[in-house]
Amino acid sequence: MNRAIGVIDSGVGGLTVAHEIMRQLPNEKIIYVGDTLRCPYGPRPACEVKQFTFEMIDFLLKQQIKMIVVACNTATAYALDDLQKKLDIPVIGVIQPGARAAIKTTKNRKIGVIGTDGTIKSKAYPSALQLINRNLQVYSLACPLFVPMVERGVTSGEEALAVVEQSLQPLKKEYEIDTLVLGCTHYPLLENTIQKVMGPDVKIISSSEETARETSTILEVHQLLYTKHREPEHEFYMTGDIEMFKRIYQTIFKEDINSIEKVVMKKINL
Ligand code: DGL
Repeated sequence: MNRAIGVIDSGVGGLTVAHEIMRQLPNEKIIYVGDTLRCPYGPRPACEVKQFTFEMIDFLLKQQIKMIVVACNTATAYALDDLQKKLDIPVIGVIQPGARAAIKTTKNRKIGVIGTDGTIKSKAYPSALQLINRNLQVYSLACPLFVPMVERGVTSGEEALAVVEQSLQPLKKEYEIDTLVLGCTHYPLLENTIQKVMGPDVKIISSSEETARETSTILEVHQLLYTKHREPEHEFYMTGDIEMFKRIYQTIFKEDINSIEKVVMKKINL
């Protein structure tokens, strides 16, 4: 089907998921919304995250999309259930796919999860993981400094290493995890630094691959796949600064962005 897949995040993080969807489903068009003006979502109360998420979805629904990927863990933790109940198109988040990928990987059943304050407080990861396997030990840690740093374009180098090293100390010292879930879509941009700090024995999991796989399965099941060959023109909409977004896009995609526009989200009543 000709319509696009809508992808949302509080900022640039969802690009890590969009990138993987484009790789696995090259004929599908993506319309991406990043709420860079109001990022980070992590420290915000649940009601605010829900409000902002629904505003982005409202914007996307006006563009006739066929499916939504909530490429933000914080928004997934707080708004996915409501979205799935309210919308009549398929909506998926990133937490279940991330949990599934971690379960496939762990050998000693000790899994670490890092995320924003909101995601960690919601306990969405331990719930998703232990629903599948009650015998898992899950250690969660909020890393509130990561998202603002990535949104400033700092993804490697000395500053990134110092912040990551300091933030991950509690997780590194106390538990013998063999798997670490990047429970925030911004964190894959710091993956090399995180791997360096955690050491080679810890497998790093980002939910993007598994989320893209789930996107593909859902489109197929609902007979919504675009089955002809094409080079779709993806669209990107930001509520805040677009210059930084362009730079981070370049880092991930190794090319310049074609279509990007600044937009204002319309307030809606939930
Ligand atoms: N990428 C978002 C997530 O996965 C970042 C949240 C934030 O804005 O703090 O949770």
